[in-house]
Formats: sequence, structure tokens, C-alpha cells
Amino acid sequence: MRLGVNIDHIATLRQVRLEQDPDPVKAAKEALAGGADGIVCHLREDRRHIQEQDVYQLRRLKTRLDLEMAATSWMLKFALKLKPDLVTIVPEKRHELTTEGGLEVGLQLDRYISQLKASGILVSLFIDPEAKQIKAASLVGADFVELHTGSYANVSAAKKKSALDQIKRAVQLAMDFGLQVNAGHGLDYNNVKPIVNLAGIEELNIGFAIIARAVKVGLRQAVKEMRRLVK
Ligand code: PXP
Repeated sequence: MRLGVNIDHIATLRQVRLEQDPDPVKAAKEALAGGADGIVCHLREDRRHIQEQDVYQLRRLKTRLDLEMAATSWMLKFALKLKPDLVTIVPEKRHELTTEGGLEVGLQLDRYISQLKASGILVSLFIDPEAKQIKAASLVGADFVELHTGSYANVSAAKKKSALDQIKRAVQLAMDFGLQVNAGHGLDYNNVKPIVNLAGIEELNIGFAIIARAVKVGLRQAVKEMRRLVK
């Protein structure tokens, strides 16, 4: 299983003071040194953390880059110019603290997916682990789905088993539809293992927990510790 490290919150800290540091590009290098298989970043419309210049510099690192973006014409143009390895289309609301739920997948995504794929970029759709969204993702020609793990990560211990079972069924269904499967959101050092143990997930995308741990032990070490869990 691959580990994609989301470095958005390094940029969140920088933007609080509009300084040069901490620098998400240096952070990405540290994450890779700690064992990350790739870097994930989300260029939001409000530019609250990652900026365009960051993404161009991240692209120059010789590593797998997953660009999370909303389905807008501007972002499509940007992605076609950048050519990341993977684009993950996410829903985006201005006033949310983080991506709150998965996409409502429909034919409106068709033109984004077809243009990205035509230029050699793999496309993933960030969705809740629901049969309806998986079928729709397959219908619009996505390569991957990224299953939103918030429904598992953010519930009480009593509800975790059924949330995990729902993700397990979703992974199987997605594979039955010929989709490749990533997963992420809300995963941390304590809750990641049962997700790692699910067969069929190719990559986990983890951000907040790693950056929060990095404040105490440094980013390279924080990624190393997650890497030991994500195998
Ligand atoms: N995957 C997607 C699509 C996301 O939007 C996010 C949050 O930026 C993550 C994964 C990572 O979530 P977290 O920061 O909770 O690990």
C-alpha cells in the first residue's frame, strides 16, 4: 500500500503570517525522505494554504504528485498545464474547514475527466463509500475512486465496525467495476491499521495527523512512524 502525504497544512501555517517558511516544497522533500511514496496537495479556490507557485515547484520534484482540485474550468486549465500524475476531483465549499464529504458524481464531470485523461493524467474521484457514487464514477470514466474514510474515522468506537464494513464493501464493489481504489481523510496513527488491513486499497492519503505529529517529532520522523503502519 502506498502512502501519499498531504502537505497542505505546512502551507496553512506559512499563510498565517505570509512568510516564506515553513515551505511546503522543503516539507515534501522531508516527507519523501521519511518514506512517503508521493505528495498530495489541494489548490483551493480561496488559496488558503497551497499557492499556484507551490504546486509548480512540487511538480518539479521527481515524485508522484496528486493534485486535489474542484471541478472548475480554471482548475482544469491549470491541471492540463501542470500535468500531475493524478488529479483527484473533490467537492469544495468556501466555508468548510476541510473537505466535508464526497462528490455527488454525475455527467457534469464528464468533460473534466475526458480532457484530463486525454492529456495522460489519471483521474480519481473523492467519494463517500456508497454504491451509487461508485457506479457513477465508473460510468463517467474515472480511473480511481478515493473513498472518504471520515465516516469511519470520525465515529465512536461502537460504530467503527459497521463503518469499516461499509468501506470494505465499497472497495470490493469499486474493484468489480474496474476502478482502482485510494482512501483517505481523518486517518491517524490510532485508527489507520484496520484500513491498512483491507485488501484492495492502493494508496492512503494522509495529511493532518502527520503534520500535527511533525510539530513534536519533525516531519521526516512523523512520516516514518506512519510508514511503519502503512505497508
Ligand atoms: N483526501 C482528500 C481528498 C482530502 O481532501 C483530504 C484533506 O485535505 C485528505 C485526503 C487528507 O485528510 P486528512 O488531512 O484528514 O488526513
